[in-house]
Amino acid sequence: AESTLALPVGTTLDRFIMRQQEAFAFAKGELSQLLRDIALASKIIGREINRAGLTDITGALGRENVQGESQQKLDVIANIRFKRALVNGGEVCGILSEEEDDIIQTGNNNAKYVVAMDPLDGSSNIDVNVSIGTIFSIYRRVSPIGTPATLEDFMQGGRKQVAAGYILYGSSTVMVYTTGKGVNCFTYENALGEYFFSHADMEMPTTGKIYSINDAYYDEFAEPIKSFIGDMRKTSGAMARYIGSLVGDFHRNLLKGGIYLYPPTRKAQDGKLRLLYECYPLAMITEQAGGKATNGICPILDVEPTQIHQRSAIYVGSSELVDDLDSRLAAYH
Ligand code: AHG
Ligand code: MN
Ligand code: MN
Ligand code: MN
Repeated sequence: AESTLALPVGTTLDRFIMRQQEAFAFAKGELSQLLRDIALASKIIGREINRAGLTDITGALGRENVQGESQQKLDVIANIRFKRALVNGGEVCGILSEEEDDIIQTGNNNAKYVVAMDPLDGSSNIDVNVSIGTIFSIYRRVSPIGTPATLEDFMQGGRKQVAAGYILYGSSTVMVYTTGKGVNCFTYENALGEYFFSHADMEMPTTGKIYSINDAYYDEFAEPIKSFIGDMRKTSGAMARYIGSLVGDFHRNLLKGGIYLYPPTRKAQDGKLRLLYECYPLAMITEQAGGKATNGICPILDVEPTQIHQRSAIYVGSSELVDDLDSRLAAYH
């Protein structure tokens, strides 16, 4: 298959990024370099993950993060590695991480970009060898070049993202990202330490039979969610698939069609997933791939950011499934 860049599948990520820069002249190379820095960080984190069981870096660290979650050792290691790659890469003036209370100044005050990230998504799965991921979201700064990054740089809203992507450390490691010109996927070849272009211009199937939701909270869901699930269960061939790693559930639904739901629950009245570094980036990828992402009231990308770790309900995936759920929720609100 060929992507809009007429690059053959099988080319390297590096060459793809170069061609993207030439074709779209979107930058003098800073965003290209930033994407390379993220790919490098993912290679380093991937290696740590693959060795976790051998080097006693699984398990909990014994402290909580700003989310009130017990931080896993690999959460912290991934956070450190990602930050270091971005600081050393020089293209980012500030970083927002799920694992840190406040925005992080990199010291690269002349850099043009900021990154919001979930360094390790699906932490509950680290110790049981189930797929986990990294999610990232990139904005062009709005604060003056030459000054430290500001909160405003991160609070521009989902539609101001210049790029968004994830890495899925699964049976193979893949990097999926968009710069607003379609969604492309790269598969990591361990032996060569390179990502190779593997899926061009990914499209979210318009419908699907897979739904991903944590059934344990069923009794807490609003009626429209229950009726939607009830009807999903009645469709022939319906499948319930919930990994506990959003990136894993999302990537499967992107390939096969389906919907991931994280509604408000008693424990998470505003939903559990974080707007700036989980919902926004996946919503950008989704819309670029022809899918939909909503909080049940408006598209995720139109949800106003009010604080850096704010949470949101999210219903994301095949457009027909999300539209169906949206119409049930609209009648309810
Ligand atoms: P993280 O590990 O980065 O904190 O995110 C975990 C998220 C998401 O990956 C997953 O789908 C969801 O939490 C699972 O939540 P429940 O265990 O409440 O279902
Ligand atoms: Mn977490
Ligand atoms: Mn997460
Ligand atoms: Mn995380």
